[in-house]
Amino acid sequence: MATPKTVTITGGAGQIGYALAFRIANGEVYGSDTPVSLRLLEIPQALGAAEGVAMELMDCAFPLLHSVEVVDDTVDAFDGVSAAFLVGAKPRQQGMERSDLLTANAGIFVPQGRAINEGAAPDVRVLVVGNPANTNAWITAMNAPDVPRERFTAMTRLDHTRAVAQVARHLGVESSRLSRLTIWGNHSALQYPDISHAQIDGKPLGDAVDSEWATGEFMTTVAQRGAAIIKARGASSAASAANAAVWHMRDWVQGTPAGDWTSVALPSPGLYGVPDGLVSSFPAVSVNGQWEIVEGLSMSQFSQQRLEMSVAELVAEQESVKRLGIG
Ligand code: NAD
Ligand code: LMR
Repeated sequence: MATPKTVTITGGAGQIGYALAFRIANGEVYGSDTPVSLRLLEIPQALGAAEGVAMELMDCAFPLLHSVEVVDDTVDAFDGVSAAFLVGAKPRQQGMERSDLLTANAGIFVPQGRAINEGAAPDVRVLVVGNPANTNAWITAMNAPDVPRERFTAMTRLDHTRAVAQVARHLGVESSRLSRLTIWGNHSALQYPDISHAQIDGKPLGDAVDSEWATGEFMTTVAQRGAAIIKARGASSAASAANAAVWHMRDWVQGTPAGDWTSVALPSPGLYGVPDGLVSSFPAVSVNGQWEIVEGLSMSQFSQQRLEMSVAELVAEQESVKRLGIG
């Protein structure tokens, strides 16, 4: 058996944390040969609830769960961490804009970035789920200057699986037959869900999907899905978000399937016109434990414009944070 990997979930007593912890403890990120030591970081008011989650984790007697710790100290939370799921944040309530969340959440990610910089394991991988995820990931990376910036990602995997599901339903096919869909830009209503390179059974979709649907209803449904879930549930998506977080980290560690790619928000190396360092979603494959952006895809004028709109929103978020003196 390998040495246990330390995995930290912030907001471990929250909705997503509750769905996520059990999947990680069951070995779904590091695989069936690697034990995990789970650490749940919570704010003092939620420590009791986090202790309850830890009790339930223990009660499962997961063969791969080496230990569970509940902590409220940020430095302790990230000491020796290999996989950090930064979930704890203030969730958007019905009618609230994501931009309202910037101020409320930015402060959380500065100390977390610093603690990761000081104490994380050399193989640390960070996935920011808490919204506004892209900008929170940027803040975290900015505050961890000694950690390579490509270790900081934000989650657009849920948007990706939502897009796959919508196309599968539209075509009446199994989702497993689809590949090469892309979410570009921000995890927000201005994201660009793109099926122009998508394939079915490894071949281009061609005329199977009409372009009016692809650039209209499809894009709106995917981009508005988070808001639709909030409206329906009275709370933001939780189990589907946890699933996407598990798949993001699993693929990062274990690799993406041959012939396909996924969507990952990560600091731009200046590709596709996205400014250097901006945390934007791209098509990406995981090779030898590292994300690589899929380069050289043709971009229609429509695609270019949609990406530019999303990037403009990200730049505006980044500037707001800089104005607050947080970034
Ligand atoms: P939740 O309110 O149920 O849980 C959040 C938890 O975080 C709470 O238990 C809270 O006590 C804790 N917390 C708050 N501040 C903290 C801090 N500084 N350190 C540690 N813990 C802290 O919310 P949720 O439904 O689990 O959602 C969490 C976040 O994920 C929200 O920001 C939500 O908008 C976001 N989200 C993102 C996606 C995505 O696709 N990227 C999808 C769904 C939800
Ligand atoms: C989602 O996509 O489900 C969430 O990001 C929605 C939200 O704003 O919490």
